[in-house]
Amino acid sequence: MAPTTEAPAQAWTHGRAPGGRGPAGHALSLARTPLSFLTSLPRYGDLVELRLGHRRAYLACHPDLVRHILLDSKTFDSGGALKDKARLILGNGLITAGRQDHRKQRRMIQPAFHQRRIASYARIMQQECAQICDSWHASRPVDMCDAMHALTARVTARCLFSTNIAQSDVREIQQWLPVVIRGAFHRALDPTGLLERVPTRGNRRFDEALTRLNSLITRLVSRYRARGAGGQDLLSALLETEDTKTGSRLSDQEIHDQVMTLLLAGIETTASALTWSLHLLSRHPGVADRLVAETDDVLGGRAATYEDIPALPYTSRVFNETLRMFPPAWVFTRTTVVDTRLAGHRLPSGADILISPYVLHRNPRLFPEPRRFDPDRWAPERAAGIPSGAMLPFGAGSRKCIGDVFGMTEAVLALATLTTRWKMTLAPGAKVRPKAAMSLGSGPLPMVLTPRDK
Ligand code: HEM
Repeated sequence: MAPTTEAPAQAWTHGRAPGGRGPAGHALSLARTPLSFLTSLPRYGDLVELRLGHRRAYLACHPDLVRHILLDSKTFDSGGALKDKARLILGNGLITAGRQDHRKQRRMIQPAFHQRRIASYARIMQQECAQICDSWHASRPVDMCDAMHALTARVTARCLFSTNIAQSDVREIQQWLPVVIRGAFHRALDPTGLLERVPTRGNRRFDEALTRLNSLITRLVSRYRARGAGGQDLLSALLETEDTKTGSRLSDQEIHDQVMTLLLAGIETTASALTWSLHLLSRHPGVADRLVAETDDVLGGRAATYEDIPALPYTSRVFNETLRMFPPAWVFTRTTVVDTRLAGHRLPSGADILISPYVLHRNPRLFPEPRRFDPDRWAPERAAGIPSGAMLPFGAGSRKCIGDVFGMTEAVLALATLTTRWKMTLAPGAKVRPKAAMSLGSGPLPMVLTPRDK
């Protein structure tokens, strides 16, 4: 087939990652030290070729190249071996659907994330943030990693299912979802597909977790069908939506797949970033003081509401800077669906492309002193100087995160409420290191709490 589109003309450089001998190629470096390995690659070119087992993959390192890939979904679709595996868990939802299905699904699901809906989800977020603050005691350290996962699981479950979800259902999601996410990540790392077939304890637990989640979702969807939707929650929006082109509605299976997709994509990402924010604040007292000055001024100890968000610009900058330093979606992929040229290099159909927001966000040519936590980068006068396409925590193009505003709203409300209610200090001896799994986690983050005077 004839080569298709080319990225905008520019003197692109193309290189090869060093090392990578032996049958695994660079797969070992990618599995063992993914972050340092990937961030070492931009010096070899705008497009860097790696070998993962018998396959070639390409890391796009220049923001213009990345944008070109993400905006040209006719040439670079979501696909490949990774998506085939994800399909076994997520079915044919937004993340896994091919281009044609994806366009239709996106048209139908977008209304569920309309601003009017977000304002109503924000009331649930506000209640859950207040509730978690009420549940803490000064005498007991809290693992903020667990706490933030519990918070975002409760928020997402309640926004999806509103009042039709029992406490025990939320607990099931909290219990089984992390097992599924961990298992999905391990499966993605094993190109042979052999490890998942061995009847180990981990594999049995994964199977059980997936079965439990699937049957919980089936139960919840049929409960909605029986009672009729009509609520302000996400599932009601999915049940009511009609394709503007064909007038068709989503089938039960399609709704099931979208619910699983939203649970998988929405809970861990936001929780990881919130945990990193709390960690960074504990390490940067000057930033924490400015944040608390803002939240105290606006909230004075009460829970933040949707209407407060415009008055919390520094809180938003703190979270944005966290997303720059620790983007939860630290890497994602595309596959060429036709032969094409990229950075002057010929790529066959079926080539794997890696996009890493972590690599872009840590590139000193795009963000001076990239290891410095500096929320003022996002002050309007400085943010204007950041190259377009350099900051991509939510991706770009037709597959840009559908939950970006949802996630940002949830995170700003949580950060503001938590910090106006509690002073948080890292517990003595606590060590935190990035763990690049399905999202970029921190591991346990024990913190000692002191109540702030209201
Ligand atoms: C800080 C939080 C979040 C981050 C950093 C994040 C990041 C991302 C990124 C980078 C993508 C694009 C992946 C690609 O292009 O292949 C994505 C897609 C997606 N995200 Fe998020 N996400 C977050 C929160 C959420 C939330 C809260 C939800 C749902 C409630 C959500 C649902 C989704 C879905 C369904 C997709 C697939 C969209 C599509 O292909 O049309 N995400 N997310």
